[in-house]
Amino acid sequence: MAFLMECCTFLVNVLCIPLHLIQAMGLYEVYKRFFPICLYRCSIMYNKKMYDKKKDLFRSLSEFKKPGGQLTILEIGCGTGTNFPFYPPGCKVICTDPNRHFQRYLKTSMEENDQLSYERFLVASGEDMGSIESDSVDAVVCTLVLCSVNDIPQTLREIRRMLRPGGAFFFLEHVVADASTWAYFFQHVLQPFWYYFGDGCEVTRETWKHLEAAGFSDLRLRHIEAPLMFLIKPHIVGYAVK
Ligand SMILES: C[S@@+](CC[C@H](N)C(=O)[O-])C[C@H]1O[C@@H](n2cnc3c(N)ncnc32)[C@H](O)[C@@H]1O
Repeated sequence: MAFLMECCTFLVNVLCIPLHLIQAMGLYEVYKRFFPICLYRCSIMYNKKMYDKKKDLFRSLSEFKKPGGQLTILEIGCGTGTNFPFYPPGCKVICTDPNRHFQRYLKTSMEENDQLSYERFLVASGEDMGSIESDSVDAVVCTLVLCSVNDIPQTLREIRRMLRPGGAFFFLEHVVADASTWAYFFQHVLQPFWYYFGDGCEVTRETWKHLEAAGFSDLRLRHIEAPLMFLIKPHIVGYAVK
């Protein structure tokens, strides 16, 4: 089976040669302008299907507010701002994303969710959030982002640095399927194409292993099957306390 998977992956890689060339010539950057439009539409569908899971997850955010203080949330890879409706009213949100073209959609989400106060939108990658002070935020949020970052361990180090002691990292991420399934087979075979479609997204990541190794004091992590297409069905959800 492993041999068949490698042959099929090779074939898909060959079919993706035009896409590899487009990227090598630097033209793939054009897609970054259009990706926010695709994501905007997909996010509406994702939020509908994952409404209960997100509601459950983000309910715990308020537990990390300091007594008498305002809850400060830093969202990494915020995209179109699809998580804003789930945040507790009155909290302060700092949003970041390396793709500046999300700004237009983000503005709309901010206007629709004026129960929150927005500190700023920072164009930055999760691996290098240098302009955010250490120990400064109560919660960090990533949803469908650790599948796209270039370096998960470095991103988790940055998250731990920015969280105040006792603060928590909230995550909801799709991950690789069980190795005995067809989903695992097709995740690997279709990965070369999916990478371009998903703006650098990888469906074959064992993200939970990085979270387990990241040195958080308490990790609440569950594996769930999301009501989504097989490629992005296996998810992990939970939070990790600094
Ligand atoms: C699938 S979208 C998810 C967006 C949003 N979090 C959501 O749940 O709808 C992936 C996001 O990760 C961002 N991203 C890609 N590479 C990143 C990196 N190295 N650091 C932070 N965010 C990144 C993308 O720009 C995009 O906004």
